[in-house]
Amino acid sequence: MIPTLEWTKEGVRFLDQTKLPLEEIYVTATSYDDVATIIRDMIVRGAPAIGVSAAMGIALGVDRSKATSIDDLSKEVEKMSDVLAKTRPTAVNLFWAIERMRAKYYALASMEGITIPQIKQKLIDEAQRMYDEDIQACKDMGAFGAELLPKEGTVLTHCNAGALATCGYGTALGVIRAAVERGAKIDVLADETRPYLQGARLTAWELLHDGIKTTVLCDNMSGSLMRQGRIKAVIVGADRIAANGDVANKIGTYSVAVLAKEHGIPFYVAAPWSTIDVATATGDDIPIEQRDAREVTHSNGKQMTPNGCGIENPAFDVTPAKYVTAIVTEKGVLRAPYAESMRTMMDEIAETAKA
Ligand code: MRU
Repeated sequence: MIPTLEWTKEGVRFLDQTKLPLEEIYVTATSYDDVATIIRDMIVRGAPAIGVSAAMGIALGVDRSKATSIDDLSKEVEKMSDVLAKTRPTAVNLFWAIERMRAKYYALASMEGITIPQIKQKLIDEAQRMYDEDIQACKDMGAFGAELLPKEGTVLTHCNAGALATCGYGTALGVIRAAVERGAKIDVLADETRPYLQGARLTAWELLHDGIKTTVLCDNMSGSLMRQGRIKAVIVGADRIAANGDVANKIGTYSVAVLAKEHGIPFYVAAPWSTIDVATATGDDIPIEQRDAREVTHSNGKQMTPNGCGIENPAFDVTPAKYVTAIVTEKGVLRAPYAESMRTMMDEIAETAKA
């Protein structure tokens, strides 16, 4: 399995994704501040991986704390949560994970007679549980989503929603992996995904690692291939899904979705339930991260644009729900109208939890 991130005795170890595909280098965070920098600098990226990284960041911060009272430790937990929450704004998994760790911390801190060493261990256990749950969720998404993909043919993906964007296996790429494991003869077209090249550098790297035939294409090429009938389905991940089913994902996803609809090609989104943000009504309410202009002006250290020209660098866009054929989650497959199918699935989840 690709070791995107892991808890170690020395700290949280990350595969440095800025160095792929040419170098496999690991960096170890020994403080929550290190974890925040690693998320901000995209050494780790992808919504589910960002979430679990933040959870491990809090576990690490608490573990290394010198606080001798619960009051002091609580103040530190608030500080850590705040610093980690300010790293990247779009992927809701980040905020979901921080809230889950805070809730766990306060539940523990209010327990009669609990000691600080016990709290430390239980927060490490919670972060590790989130890591394990993430891998299981990806496998479950794979099982549901594999049924939707063609038994044979070419599937297009945008950005990297793979093992590298999760704790292992992947969401959109997990569905592709699951289909291939079940015998489908699928080859993958990976949009290069300018400006950060998650498709060219990361998706291609991890799919080839698994022996899945992968072809990289520039972001402006898929429309032409769709018109030639060469793409059977599109599957992508998500950074945040609003209550009405609008999907925020890597910049360029929207164009692919519109093209897919025009050509009658199914457009699937695979994401864990933690990516669904029912508190956000529509895609228009999702905060879109704006990144440094240099990611656009420079390529491999070389300036590509004339001095003085304006630069746009939104990291994500929103695909309205009407372009989404289905959303694959670890609980099952959602179909339009999404607000209704999300509610039904949430009720089913609550019923199962009660039983
Ligand atoms: O900026 P990134 O690389 O963090 O963006 C990643 C994406 O947009 C992914 O498609 C999304 O997070 C889903 S990952 C399973």
